[in-house]
Amino acid sequence: MRLQGKVAVVTGAGTGIGQAIAVAFAEAGAAVVIDYVGKASVSEDTIRKIKALGGKSLGVEADISIQDDVNGLIQKTVVAFGKLDIFVNNAGIEKKIAFVDYPLEKWQKIFAVNLTGPFLCSQSAARQMILQGGGGRIINISSVHEDLPMPTNAPYCATKGGLRMLMRTIAVELAPHGITVNNIGPGAIYTPIDKDVESDTRLNDQILAEIPMGRWGKPEEVAQLAVYLASDAAGYVTGSTHFIDGGMLRNAGSL
Ligand code: BGC
Repeated sequence: MRLQGKVAVVTGAGTGIGQAIAVAFAEAGAAVVIDYVGKASVSEDTIRKIKALGGKSLGVEADISIQDDVNGLIQKTVVAFGKLDIFVNNAGIEKKIAFVDYPLEKWQKIFAVNLTGPFLCSQSAARQMILQGGGGRIINISSVHEDLPMPTNAPYCATKGGLRMLMRTIAVELAPHGITVNNIGPGAIYTPIDKDVESDTRLNDQILAEIPMGRWGKPEEVAQLAVYLASDAAGYVTGSTHFIDGGMLRNAGSL
């Protein structure tokens, strides 16, 4: 098993891509901490799925935009499983509103979750990994929109663009410690974040027309890329975004 004996934290792992990553990590042999905000019930489905596989997991409540919560998340992980090898910054939100109408509070909330969260979590995780020695893995779930503009989604695109440069910069800083930092850039993946598009035939057809593969991606497909990046086999892979988008970016003529 590719992650046997490893300890991972996945933020926002209650549903969607985060849940698929948590389950795939457990399947690959890792103990997985499921970070959630609000009710513990958010993490229950993922924990149940991991239990059914005979895997180890723990739900921890932590708001990733609050430093004390993040430090607590890392501490609880180490208390429960003895160390931290892999941190996945997956939690993310978006809200589509025309730029000229975009309210400041919504912009700030999206930045808190999508960019301040990965800053605080990566910092706290890296401190723990350096303390332990032996390196580590930081993986950010970014988006094709770290490069591709998406009208009505300005703050989301701005945070993903920011996540690209956060990743690139800290990959260089953390390399001497054997810690790799990479982004995964999914395209249209069938998850709750896109329920507005999935449930509207016109919007659904529109997005499929943008994807050369002609279908939505599956969270499990993204999870397999995360397993590879988290594994020892990926020890020389750092500082890059790995897109998984059915060819969407090529179609857009981007990059
Ligand atoms: C966004 C989705 C969008 C997809 C492809 C994702 O990052 O969360 O809303 O459909 O990119 O454009």
